[in-house]
Amino acid sequence: MNRHLLSSADLSREDVEAILTTAESMHDVQHREIKKIPTLRGRTIINLFFEDSTRTRSSFEIAGKWMSADTINITGKGSSTSKGESLRDTVRTIDAMGVDALVIRHSASGACHQVAGWVDASVINAGDGTHEHPTQALLDAYTLRHRIGDLDGKHVVIVGDLTHSRVFRSDVITLGRLGAHVTVVAPPTLMPSGIADWAKTDGYATSWDLDDVLEGRGAYGPVDAVMMLRVQRERMSGGFFPTPREYTVTYGLTRERMQRLAGSNPDVAILHPGPINRGLEIAADVADSVQSVVLDQVSAGVAVRMAVLYHLLSGEAVA
Ligand code: NCD
Repeated sequence: MNRHLLSSADLSREDVEAILTTAESMHDVQHREIKKIPTLRGRTIINLFFEDSTRTRSSFEIAGKWMSADTINITGKGSSTSKGESLRDTVRTIDAMGVDALVIRHSASGACHQVAGWVDASVINAGDGTHEHPTQALLDAYTLRHRIGDLDGKHVVIVGDLTHSRVFRSDVITLGRLGAHVTVVAPPTLMPSGIADWAKTDGYATSWDLDDVLEGRGAYGPVDAVMMLRVQRERMSGGFFPTPREYTVTYGLTRERMQRLAGSNPDVAILHPGPINRGLEIAADVADSVQSVVLDQVSAGVAVRMAVLYHLLSGEAVA
């Protein structure tokens, strides 16, 4: 593993395994009364978020703090970019202060790669446009392992707004590294163009028919886990589906679909990276069901981000 974490493709299977193993021990810190370990004492981490975030930003901040690093949050609105400063000038200014890591979320795909070329600090991609979100994929893998065990040969279905989803782009890589079979499902209008070739290269299946896949008639048979993605209305410029109601009926994880799914596999795990549009892509009581691991994902987010910071900043080799 190198100095930065820009894409899930940067991580080999061994890297992913090493991060998840470290995350296990980091997770113990969460259950202690005194949540503090000295690992990153004297290190400075800047969270630079140009897009809104609840989970990712606070979990990176908590992760840094629990490891005794000094963490500072800067948002787009509160930074000089709102006065017209370029991204390059902003990150070079921060870097000149001598920080160790920059955790960046930006609306432009590829922004983190560019920043990595401009600064000395380690750069961690916390979501760049519709490109990638590698720590989300790691926390999804961590959560899934805890709920359904070893991912080798397991079938994970990812459903929803694939066109705008950086989560799906990272998840297919990381879950694939761990041997999972992934099927992605979306209406044709929310399927990225050229996905067929890409799916062939990266080894995952695609479908427009949610019921077919959930009932085990897809390329990989019975389903072990389903990840619902948020319909990202803020990134949509036109009409991607006729009405929200129609989307729910065709692609939502409704109570009826969940009943059928749990009927064939009561241990199926339901994931959602959040934030959730309750009643649109997932029914409220499905999100709160015993099969839902949504809050486990949030909890894993802190442990996994601690592990990533540890591997990037502690100077110890990963694998
Ligand atoms: C996702 C994101 O921002 O990429 N959320 C997250 O990080 N937990 C997904 C989304 O916004 O729908």
